[in-house]
Amino acid sequence: MKFDLIIRNAQIIDGSGEPAYRADLAVSAGLIAAIGNLAAADAYSVRDAPGLVVAPGFIDVHTHDDLQVIHAPTMLPKISQGITTVIVGNCGISASPVTLMGELPDPMNLLGMPEDFCYADFVSYKKAVNAAQPAVNVAALVGHTALRNNHMDRLDRVATAEEIELMRVQLREALNEGALGLSSGLAYASASASTTEEVKLLAEVLNETGALYTTHLRTEFDEIIAALDEAFDIADHAKAPVIVSHLKCAGAGNWGRSGEILQRLETAATFHQVGCDCYPYSASSSTLDLQQVTSDFDIVITWSEPHPELGGKKLVDIANEWNLSLQDTAKKLQPAGAVYHGMSEADVQKILAHPLTMVGSDGLPVDPLPHPRLWGAFPRVLGHYSRDLKLFSLPEAIRKMTRMSADRFGLDDRGRIAVGAAADLVLFDPIKVKDAATFTQPQQLAEGIEAVWVNGVLSYAQKQLTGMRAGKFLARQRDLRIGFY
Ligand code: ZN
Ligand code: CU
Repeated sequence: MKFDLIIRNAQIIDGSGEPAYRADLAVSAGLIAAIGNLAAADAYSVRDAPGLVVAPGFIDVHTHDDLQVIHAPTMLPKISQGITTVIVGNCGISASPVTLMGELPDPMNLLGMPEDFCYADFVSYKKAVNAAQPAVNVAALVGHTALRNNHMDRLDRVATAEEIELMRVQLREALNEGALGLSSGLAYASASASTTEEVKLLAEVLNETGALYTTHLRTEFDEIIAALDEAFDIADHAKAPVIVSHLKCAGAGNWGRSGEILQRLETAATFHQVGCDCYPYSASSSTLDLQQVTSDFDIVITWSEPHPELGGKKLVDIANEWNLSLQDTAKKLQPAGAVYHGMSEADVQKILAHPLTMVGSDGLPVDPLPHPRLWGAFPRVLGHYSRDLKLFSLPEAIRKMTRMSADRFGLDDRGRIAVGAAADLVLFDPIKVKDAATFTQPQQLAEGIEAVWVNGVLSYAQKQLTGMRAGKFLARQRDLRIGFY
């Protein structure tokens, strides 16, 4: 038999965390067809890859690519990192189910323009993704803030019983259509007025289908332990697995607390299904939030609706120029986006290295000056953190971006190199792999990503898109409470 593709002589890192081994790998009809010594086998396409690593395509578990996969389906910032699947709908904001009645609330504006929100139900979103044929696979969460905005006249209050019931109906419908679960963004003004009880009543619906709960905690600052406990309480009530989004110790007063926070997470994990994701940088990024404005560390404006010309400038420099306080300056810039250099590197490393932590980029695709995580997160973990700083082994780095993620989100035929698995593959040079995106030049292709296949189709090679886009919408396949670790 003739295979579609054979990659010869590469080091295979299969996603399980086990060491690399040398073998040939064959692909047929979008699946991994054989692994071993295939010297006698033939293929339509052969790639000799001595010295290179072949790994499962990376799964970006934390993205805001909801509308990007439809409007910019080449997905260059992601496929160029070796990412072959994105999970959208994080932090309480999703593109569906959404019916806009007034303005687009912050932070839903991180996803796109008001006119782009045209998916009143999950089915229409799913169809639009498949019609756009994105280069990467897409799986989706439903955002709590999106649901609130569908049914509430204002977001600065708790939802009524009737509103919660309407949200539950809509959530249930989306879960039945294949959504992975519910995300929340309780730190944002658009959701912070909701009580634990409101979220619990919604999360109950997860239990019916075996879906999961992800949360941008109510706070990542001093009260983070209470916020973690709230997340565990909600998940425990719903009997649903919980993933803490972009776990971090935010704010100067919180530096050095990663040990304590991870211990809390570990303790919770002994009686509950708990995990987290993390991006590999000591700066965060979101909309410009008055609560986060401080002189403790640098805040850089990335966009501002009234003052687009100030993108790239430090808030403090603008304040000095305008002769205003930081708060008043921020108010004048809003709506705006910012990068906050508000974490300690030691905490970032500790959280990233923890065995419960997956890698997620949290990239903001419509930001004109995006945080470099959008283009660099995954190669940065492989190059900077694993190879250069030796924070963990290369197989462990890959486990954090493939197998662990696939197991938690029920993507059972992905995130692994095994016969019969989907041929989502990345071929990279372990010596050269490196993020090139920086805070000042964030839109840069990573180095050392040699080739990326999605569902067996070569989609990116030699730092170029091939023009082929073979991603699919991935509906939830099973009860996510099974096999979660
Ligand atoms: Zn978030
Ligand atoms: Cu996010």
